[in-house]
Amino acid sequence: MHNRFMQSLTLTLLLAATTASASDGKALADAQGIPYPAVIAHRGASFDAPESTTPAYLLAREQGADYLEMDLQRTRDGVLVVVHDDVLARTSDVAERFPERAASPVSAFSLAELKSLDAGSWFNKAYPERARASFKGLRILTLDEVIDIAEANPERHPGLYIETKQPAQFPGIENDLKARLDARGWLEKPGRVVLQTFDRNSLALLHQAMPQTPKILLLWVAKGSIEPASGQNFAESGESDKAAFYARQQPKDHSEFERWLDYAKAGGAIGTGPSAMRSGLGEQSYADLIQPWMNQASHQRGLLVHVYTLDDPADFDKALKAGVDGVFSNRPGAFMRFLGRTPGGEGQLLRQLGY
Ligand code: G3P
Ligand code: CA
Repeated sequence: MHNRFMQSLTLTLLLAATTASASDGKALADAQGIPYPAVIAHRGASFDAPESTTPAYLLAREQGADYLEMDLQRTRDGVLVVVHDDVLARTSDVAERFPERAASPVSAFSLAELKSLDAGSWFNKAYPERARASFKGLRILTLDEVIDIAEANPERHPGLYIETKQPAQFPGIENDLKARLDARGWLEKPGRVVLQTFDRNSLALLHQAMPQTPKILLLWVAKGSIEPASGQNFAESGESDKAAFYARQQPKDHSEFERWLDYAKAGGAIGTGPSAMRSGLGEQSYADLIQPWMNQASHQRGLLVHVYTLDDPADFDKALKAGVDGVFSNRPGAFMRFLGRTPGGEGQLLRQLGY
């Protein structure tokens, strides 16, 4: 009898803790004008179209995603562009167009040079089952062009979720970003822009430049970031399967994880962007940093939790039950369907959009 009473009490307390945690997240999101749970289209709808290109962002917008996510870099001639990798080899034909600079950083190219690259054909080769002839010859986009997409449909108003990528390579990029967002009138819209970075120094600079704009500190387990219990980085492990290695990584201890929450708070962030392990592992499966105690520790500090990067309904379910407040997804349509917000089918929408 005593045991049954204790079990029931424990269950009640657990449910209360979960409910309190979830409602805390909603209240935190509401206070910032951020949708809850937030649907963040990771590099656009990048499962169905080449990442960070026009059809990927158009599709995410038409699906009703809350935010278009992008990685910001700067050209040699000072233009802000949207590219994820440090180099262009994976997502363009740079090796054919500029063989001597195939391994050079984005900052080694002028805007005209970047615009001469084909940023779509690689996708057709990598994912023949999702290939479309119209993806051939897609162009790398500037920040302004992504803003144009976000503004173009009066019935769809996605926000912008902007990461300063490798910010140490781009001194002053935080102020450049402020200037463009200001010029386009986006800093007056509460919750419509969210800024994100893995880099604590860039977080401080973003906060200095745009104190009122919500910011997220991205979290990652590795030496130099959240200290791993294993004491090793992937390269030092000698393993070949990255996802399997990351799946075993965890913070050294609770206080190490909490130390990074405190860095986020002290740096002016309103939330964190932790990594997640995917149920099917594979690409973009990382360390599990959305365990319920982690999300509770974030909420206790008044921090939202937006997790990267999940595409599968089983993973959406697990993440939301664990207490996250938003999801970066390459398949924003799948997350919208999971939430009961029903967009049209991806193929049909892409056809309607002319792809
Ligand atoms: O910005 C959140 C998530 O996108 C971080 O990972 O490497 O895809 O930019 P990455
Ligand atoms: Ca990113």
